[in-house]
Amino acid sequence: MKICCIGAGYVGGPTMAMIAHQCSDIDVYVVDINEERIAAWNSDELPIFEPGLQDVVEANRGKNLFFSTAVDDHIRDADMIFISVNTPTKVYGVGKGRAADLKYVELCARRIAEVAVGHKIIVEKSTLPVRTAETIKRILANSPHEATFDVLSNPEFLAEGTAVEDLEAPDRVLIGGESKDSIQKLVDVYANWVDRDRILTTNLWSSELSKLAANAFLAQRISSINAMSALCEATQADVDEVAHAIGQDSRIGPKFLKSSVGFGGSCFQKDILNLVYLCEFYGLKEVAEYWEQVVKMNDYQKERFARNMIRTMFNTVSGKRIAIWGWAFKKDTNDTRESAAIYVCRDLLIEQATLAIYDPKVSAKQIKQDLEYVFKQENGEVSERDKNLIENNIIICDSAFEAATQAHSVAVMTEWDEFKDIEPADLYDIVFKPAFLFDGRNLLDHKAYIKQGFEVYAIGKGLLEG
Ligand code: UDX
Ligand code: ADP
Repeated sequence: MKICCIGAGYVGGPTMAMIAHQCSDIDVYVVDINEERIAAWNSDELPIFEPGLQDVVEANRGKNLFFSTAVDDHIRDADMIFISVNTPTKVYGVGKGRAADLKYVELCARRIAEVAVGHKIIVEKSTLPVRTAETIKRILANSPHEATFDVLSNPEFLAEGTAVEDLEAPDRVLIGGESKDSIQKLVDVYANWVDRDRILTTNLWSSELSKLAANAFLAQRISSINAMSALCEATQADVDEVAHAIGQDSRIGPKFLKSSVGFGGSCFQKDILNLVYLCEFYGLKEVAEYWEQVVKMNDYQKERFARNMIRTMFNTVSGKRIAIWGWAFKKDTNDTRESAAIYVCRDLLIEQATLAIYDPKVSAKQIKQDLEYVFKQENGEVSERDKNLIENNIIICDSAFEAATQAHSVAVMTEWDEFKDIEPADLYDIVFKPAFLFDGRNLLDHKAYIKQGFEVYAIGKGLLEG
């Protein structure tokens, strides 16, 4: 069997590497139009950082796992084609800011229709609005070579940072489709390493919707605990204690209740906005408003954090150096999409702060690109003033210590383990006094920092005392 996966990104790359790893009799070709990305997949420096991924790729690359830009050739040769391209939120036209931009998916479908011969199973791997398979089927129906197709939905539930373990032992694999035969072929692929009772089969639309629903439920839990964190700060309750207490109820459960500066990542916000758009499309105004509140609460949490920093630092951060620890949207990934750090830093830059940023895995180029993106105006351009602001007020550092040197405050944005190893005394020596610490992840040992002389502000903790 030959599999072709279109899109060598955060989803396509790791997922295909795992399929190749677990199924020695399947040849897996991951194709992408981005030459740089493919070259990186073929090098010692993979384009994405995921614990354990390098080993899986190196063990199989060149045997039954191949990365290539020859999109058409591998579409033609494959029995099964996964579509794993990006589906960002639309930034133009109808549905701007909400609907998923399906142009890349449609381009793939058109390419497949154009070059495919014989019978192919098309698998939607990207997260898509419910009923996208209908569009794909209609495009594929126009194959000039009279190729035939079955379309399946097989959403990916891996979380970044734990992609390899999630792929190795998934809670479930979901496959939706119409053709029993094709569903079985994909079930057989996963059954090489996943227990059969964890492989769920449904109709196409349930599968497409379940992915959006799962992400919406997960994000809703974070917004719920973050909403509580604001109330905790006002009432001297402790959000970690509240989360622990409610998580002990087996109906609620302890996972995904960690209050933070706000969720980020490529999925949660995008998928909820997409869900909101779909609900509005189907005339379900109340349902749309309900889910939209999850995103609004997340925006509130990020704004609240920046506002609190400014207020605490005597209502002005202009000209002050602030150490920003972490840029990725969570630890153990170099992905920065929708990271809370970007929005908090935008608000601090508007107040003319100088930001000394350190992240162990994110490049300086990426950080600047992210900031330029959030400073874009309606016309898509960044004003000269904002360009100068980014150029002059950002210092990219090589260590957490370098960032904190002569800083007026330190802000933890990502929960990287290495930040926990820093000695409060060593940090205290190098920062200006009063020494402010803002912990957006409730990561550090607050008592130790307070004892050292720091003024500590954490999420959902009220006034912290030693
Ligand atoms: C998510 C889903 O978990 C995954 O199933 C889906 O396939 C893709 O979207 P991902 O975005 O990679 O995965 O990471 P996740 O671990 O869900 O974290 C998302 C964001 O929520 C991060 O910014 C994280 O820091 C934040 N988060 C998570 C919290 O603030 N608190 C929590 O308790 C959990
Ligand atoms: P995800 O997180 O969903 O994997 P990424 O943005 O990391 O998203 O990856 C998507 C990949 O899909 C990118 O590398 C992009 O170049 C690729 N891609 C987009 N459109 C096409 C296309 N028409 N043909 C081949 N690859 C494509």
